[in-house]
Amino acid sequence: MTMNGKCLVVYYSKGGNTKTVAEKVAKRMGGELCEVNEQGVTQPGFDPSAYGLVVIGTPVNGFSTSLPIQGYLTQNKGKLPAVAFYATYSLHPMGTLGGMEKLAGKKPVATEKFKSSDIKLGKIDAKVDGFVAALKK
Ligand SMILES: Cc1cc2nc3c(=O)[nH]c(=O)nc-3n(C[C@H](O)[C@H](O)[C@H](O)COP(=O)(O)O)c2cc1C
Repeated sequence: MTMNGKCLVVYYSKGGNTKTVAEKVAKRMGGELCEVNEQGVTQPGFDPSAYGLVVIGTPVNGFSTSLPIQGYLTQNKGKLPAVAFYATYSLHPMGTLGGMEKLAGKKPVATEKFKSSDIKLGKIDAKVDGFVAALKK
């Protein structure tokens, strides 16, 4: 898939793991970063439909997508261009990525999952590179 336009990385992060991945992806994509608050809302000025690709990152909370990212996907369904999803987790991502696809109402161009201990140990760069390569296809 050829990507047109800029990339926006949208994430929610309570403890910093999902933010660490978001920063790495945005940097490698030359894209913009945008954090979602507890209500699932971003700062103004980040209209997803103005981008060619929106990458959305969530921590796994209670075996599923975090409530803020569920809110973001629900509120922005219909405005989303091509999407990609990633999840950070400590034990197992369960059906989080599939759940995000359902909420967004579209198939992602790529997905990835990152284990919190690997993020903390700085062992995710190769995985981030693979994810970004899939986004650029
Ligand atoms: C309230 C809560 C619920 C969680 N539920 C799960 C879970 O069901 N499965 C799992 O593998 N990790 C779970 N975790 C671990 C987080 O998904 C993991 O630490 C993640 O990387 C946190 O991201 P953050 O630092 O961006 O907030 C949970 C963490 C919290 C705080």
